[in-house]
Amino acid sequence: MPAKLIDGKAIAKDVKNELKKQIAELDKKGIRPGLAAVLVGDDPASHVYVRNKERACKKIGVYSEVIKKPAETTAEELSELIADLNNRSDIHGILIQSPLPSHINEMDMILKVDPLKDVDGFHPLNAGHMMLGSPIFLPCTPFGIIRMLDAIGASPRGKKVVILGRGNIVGKPLAVILMQKWEGCNATVTVCHTGTADIIGEAKQADILIAAMGRPKFVTAEMVKEGATIIDVGVNRVEDPKSAKGYYLCGDVDFDACLEKASAITPVPGGVGPMTIAMLLYNTVRAARISSSI
Ligand code: GUN
Repeated sequence: MPAKLIDGKAIAKDVKNELKKQIAELDKKGIRPGLAAVLVGDDPASHVYVRNKERACKKIGVYSEVIKKPAETTAEELSELIADLNNRSDIHGILIQSPLPSHINEMDMILKVDPLKDVDGFHPLNAGHMMLGSPIFLPCTPFGIIRMLDAIGASPRGKKVVILGRGNIVGKPLAVILMQKWEGCNATVTVCHTGTADIIGEAKQADILIAAMGRPKFVTAEMVKEGATIIDVGVNRVEDPKSAKGYYLCGDVDFDACLEKASAITPVPGGVGPMTIAMLLYNTVRAARISSSI
């Protein structure tokens, strides 16, 4: 039987409906959550992501400001911009879209963001709180994946989860979250990376297999245990002269090949992506609540 499709859009909608109630509550106190997204340079995928984030804010009543800067922007100029945003009372969340141009050190910029406005959860202070089990903001994509697994009744508790990829945005924080003694976590986690001796052997043992390494269709059917849940975080642009855009989008999982083997699988697009945005909104509303001591 083919795997059940995990509908990220529908689960994200539920999250956003819950948030609308909190936004209405804040509105009564004269507070409108505000998110500033800073985009430096002209990475086409980043422009699409930021546009989607802006649209999502507007739809649920979160104030959104997108600040676009040219690729030549200096670290000093960006630092000044971040300092201004830190000082603004109408901005509760600040997002510096990654990647930044190579002449700017990303961590230097993350360190400038007020940790209480760090809705990406990238600041070392927030990473530390998360690791020690008392988070302020959880990073949006890992948070969205936990929420998604909960929504489909596939709790990682007691399960073997294999994460492919150890990046700072997804793989690493997700491993830390999944091993916590929290409701909806408490999993046994394996992280595979370029130094892993037998990725296929490891992946095959997963009850929940999470692909986040940014390699198109890397996960083949032989890597999947019968009945596993597959979460595909990859969004890869693959050149395709036949398509109008010149490329098509695909995940890190060979979706068609794995469909018969898995019990549930996320599509790309429409899986993890909408959840990342929903949790960004969640963190922004949370930041506004924290700042107004609700
Ligand atoms: N680039 C890719 N994913 C993300 C994300 O979640 N946040 C930011 N700021 N940049 C990204």
